[in-house]
Amino acid sequence: MNRIAILTGGGDAPGLNAVIRAVVKTAIGEYGWDVLGVRNGFDGFVSQGGVFPLSINEVRGILQRGGTILGTANRGNPFARKVMKDGVEIVEDTSQQVYDRIRSLGLDALIVVGGDGTLGIARDLHDIGVPVVGVPKTIDNDVSCTDFTFGFDTAVVTATEAIDKLHTTAESHHRVMVVELMGRDAGFITLYAGIAGGADVILIPEIPFRFEAVCAKVQHRIMRGSFFSIIAVAEGAHPLGGEQVVARQGDAVYIQRLGGISQQVADFVSLNCQVETRVTVLGHLQRGGSPTPFDRWLATRLGTAAVRAVANAELGKMVAMRGDNMVMVPLTEVLAQPKRVDIDGDAVRTARDLGISLGN
Ligand code: F6P
Repeated sequence: MNRIAILTGGGDAPGLNAVIRAVVKTAIGEYGWDVLGVRNGFDGFVSQGGVFPLSINEVRGILQRGGTILGTANRGNPFARKVMKDGVEIVEDTSQQVYDRIRSLGLDALIVVGGDGTLGIARDLHDIGVPVVGVPKTIDNDVSCTDFTFGFDTAVVTATEAIDKLHTTAESHHRVMVVELMGRDAGFITLYAGIAGGADVILIPEIPFRFEAVCAKVQHRIMRGSFFSIIAVAEGAHPLGGEQVVARQGDAVYIQRLGGISQQVADFVSLNCQVETRVTVLGHLQRGGSPTPFDRWLATRLGTAAVRAVANAELGKMVAMRGDNMVMVPLTEVLAQPKRVDIDGDAVRTARDLGISLGN
């Protein structure tokens, strides 16, 4: 009998539980394997009670639940684990410990569900001999070699609903509403939700913007008799020649957090366009909630395909969605280049054709 384990790492995304359910149901029901769950990302391998058996019972009723029943961590890189010792931050390499634990558990494969950070750790573990299969996850949709990641669709729905709601109040009060959405280096959520929600300005990290161009769009609308505007801005958007706005620097407890660009845009617009502005930062609402049917469907297919990949000994690879197919891509290829919005692609072109300002 084979034995596999599954862990979820990095920021959570709606659909993680659907993957776990699909892996457990397929591995136990179809192949008769043992499945172990690892708590809180790779940390579970080095913590008491961090690895436990998963049966069909544990995955009943979780398909529609957001979050992850395994827990997750976005600071648990075993090759560079940041810990506080005597009040000082130190970096420890605990990869040998993790490797030994995986060997002692007799795992035939470890299924790692995560974004590019977590998948990078999976690749490094594979390089030292751990048999891994990756499953791409992130609301940001910024993992290469797959058409979409699960979690993205749910986040876009949440963001679009927010923009819809801001529209009615913006129009009633003749205000400019600036909504800040997630996306450190990739503007997919902002671009997709901005187009779907009918935003007037969309600012994404891939296209450095000019404050004056944002103002020009708002003023142009006012001249045409539209006394309100919606500006959708990704947290990682930044002005031409300027830096991303950091809300909190990283330390041993926190990773660096972005935030604040929406307030800067709002301040500039209210000062220069003589119009009232309000800011909404949607934050972690975008990571929560029940996955959409599309995300459940994608996560379920990725989970079953990951188990088939283990059965076919396709290790060191990630399951990816290409059109209507699930394909296997080497992790080295996935991680060679980050996925970003194609600034010459059709989505950006669509926005421009609609008269949406991208701030440049
Ligand atoms: O990677 C997904 C993401 O939602 C980013 O867009 C965002 O910057 C980050 O997570 C925030 O994560 P956390 O608050 O968990 O550190």
